[in-house]
Amino acid sequence: MSDEIDMQGVEAYAGALFGHAVGAVTIACSEMARRLGFYEHLSGSPGMTSDELASAAETHPRLTRELLDQQASVQMVTYDADKDTYALSPEGAMVVANKHSPAWMMGAVQAIGAMFMGHDQVEAAFRGDGGVAWGDQHPCLFEGTAEFFRPCYEHSLIQSFIPSLAGGIDRIASGAVVADVGCGGGLSTLVLAEAYPDSTFVGIDFHEPSIEMARSEAEKRGITNARFEVASGTTFEGSYDLVCFYDCMHDMGDPVGIASHAKTQLADGGSVMLIEPFAFDTRVENHGGLGAAFYGFSSFFCTPCSLSQEVGRGLGAQAGEPGMRLVFEEAGYGDFKRVAESATNIVYEAFA
Ligand SMILES: C[S@@+](CC[C@H](N)C(=O)[O-])C[C@H]1O[C@@H](n2cnc3c(N)ncnc32)[C@H](O)[C@@H]1O
Repeated sequence: MSDEIDMQGVEAYAGALFGHAVGAVTIACSEMARRLGFYEHLSGSPGMTSDELASAAETHPRLTRELLDQQASVQMVTYDADKDTYALSPEGAMVVANKHSPAWMMGAVQAIGAMFMGHDQVEAAFRGDGGVAWGDQHPCLFEGTAEFFRPCYEHSLIQSFIPSLAGGIDRIASGAVVADVGCGGGLSTLVLAEAYPDSTFVGIDFHEPSIEMARSEAEKRGITNARFEVASGTTFEGSYDLVCFYDCMHDMGDPVGIASHAKTQLADGGSVMLIEPFAFDTRVENHGGLGAAFYGFSSFFCTPCSLSQEVGRGLGAQAGEPGMRLVFEEAGYGDFKRVAESATNIVYEAFA
């Protein structure tokens, strides 16, 4: 049997796994650097010695240098041996230090942390009924999720996603009532509320700590045309010009029941706006690239969340257009269209 083993293939396989291992170590180190504020301190500075950074961040000097050398090893920071200083490039700062940049990625780093924190309960789900409730995940997932989607909501929602709906921006610009179901930390609700002060926005989620996060952020920003309610997708009530589901329909146990319920809460001429992770139409096309990340998050968070609820459809984050179209057809919608997409998301609109 060993004669048939291609040792170059073994080396290539091991090399690839080693690359993933370095990536995983880097994620853990980068999350520590984020928590300690290292990137903010380095951002804008021409370079700092590890002792200068330790003093600015009030961290242990020896540990600080060790982490900086890990970050320098993977070019997350640069090291100037002559000056013995570490620096963060302006381009790197857009990814790791500035949360309002379109390239901000630290939400993903935080959310990956929750995968490791949740190993025991996810293992139990794999060996059991498949369910882990959203609220039972490690709390770093909730902030991580909000930060993960921040660039999309701050840079695409108003700029390209809402304008792609029938009637465009005018539909919600003034006097509209909009529901954001499965709003999590409410960032999308608040972005819209700030942009359209003459309309009313209602963020809805069944996870109370996320709703509390949203309420406190609204208060901090002094936003008065948004309110937040703890309710499930099958029980929220109102008469809405637009009911939105942003990156959450696939997490829900009964997406057909929830889409059917949303239909009964639409005002005349109202529609459902659905944002879902980007996916191709077949699993084979999704294997690789972005699919590698989405299938991973989906195995630990999205699918267990759905399976923990009634019906437990378990759509998964890569259900794509075929999966979502079927849900809305089963829910009795007459019109379901793909209206926009970005590198990471697809946007749909459905009319009853
Ligand atoms: C991946 S997070 C997305 C949160 C938010 N839309 C965002 O983009 O940041 C999924 C959210 O769906 C919520 N959720 C899942 N099932 C739900 C249900 N049946 N009813 C209400 N909310 C639900 C979870 O609590 C979680 O906040």
